[in-house]
Amino acid sequence: MNDMKIIGFGHYVPKTIKYNDDFKTIVETSDEWIKSRTGISKRHLTDDENTSDIASKAALMAMEDAGVSADDIDLVVCATITPDSFTPSTASKILKLLGIKRAMAFDISAACSGFIYAMNTASAILTANNLRRAIVIGAETLSKIVDYTDRSTCVLFGDGAGAVVIEATENKSVFYCMSKTDEENILYANALKPQGVFKGGLIDDYHLKMNGQKVFKFAIEAVNDAINSALNTAGLTINDIDLIIPHQANERIIAAVCRHWNLDFNRFYLNISEYGNTSAASIAIALSEAHHKKVIGKGNRVMLVGFGAGLTWASMIIEL
Ligand code: UT7
Repeated sequence: MNDMKIIGFGHYVPKTIKYNDDFKTIVETSDEWIKSRTGISKRHLTDDENTSDIASKAALMAMEDAGVSADDIDLVVCATITPDSFTPSTASKILKLLGIKRAMAFDISAACSGFIYAMNTASAILTANNLRRAIVIGAETLSKIVDYTDRSTCVLFGDGAGAVVIEATENKSVFYCMSKTDEENILYANALKPQGVFKGGLIDDYHLKMNGQKVFKFAIEAVNDAINSALNTAGLTINDIDLIIPHQANERIIAAVCRHWNLDFNRFYLNISEYGNTSAASIAIALSEAHHKKVIGKGNRVMLVGFGAGLTWASMIIEL
């Protein structure tokens, strides 16, 4: 348990929108297949903005919402699997873009659970180091690693960023973060492989690969475990939660979770139709959107639930 509250929310997506029908020009697919199997209608894709560009726009919106300036920030943590560069970190670039002169800054790689891992890490660092405020971001330009000849993955993913400003307080937030080895490699994107001494590294294929059916089965179990574990830790029941904001991967995953918990669909916030799967950004975008659309407000108890490559899964209960 860490002590923090969210004081500002922001999100940003690139301007270019690709609808399901647009994919018919590059692979054999249909609007009907994509919508009925996933719930996705469209997604935003970047043209020339990199992860740090969209992340800093989301962060700026969160800072404005919080009424804080660059000098008020002690820490920047960015969850991403699509950084601008191996080094420096995306968070370091965000510091520069936001004009933050002195702050701790680093990235976290935990795929679609990344934003919750980043929230957990950031709030623990604030508490341990007696610091005041952090910006926590989930940001992806997944279109850099999507294989646009593979219809089973290319229609699923979008680009975007979400951010919050958090402040150390007496509020108790509950976190549950878990990983297990993905022995079968059912969801991955490779980076450099060593080629031998004095030869450096080489990339043969960096594209995102997924065994959709296996990930689907994992996802339902992971979400149920993440909800259960967070509730047990907090000593709450599902009825004590005002809104669940899940990672936006597939509406059918959420439908299965609703059946398991005997919950109405409207207990979950869903925007996958608009943005597709944006990995580490998805929960952060949904959280900011729900705040700015006034779906959630002060005093509400919100649960965030993530799952993805690693395999990783995570949940967080926070009182707004
Ligand atoms: O963010 C990280 C976590 N990710 C997830 O949670 C994703 C989990 N997985 C899923 O959401 C689903 O498995 C998918 C949406 C990826 C796929 O849905 P599915 O119902 O599992 O489809 P499938 O892979 O079993 O494919 C069914 C059929 C296949 O054709 P055949 O073999 O039955 O003839 C595919 O080739 O659908 C075909 N197919 C497509 N058809 C039209 C696959 N992609 C497409 C496509 N358009 N884009």
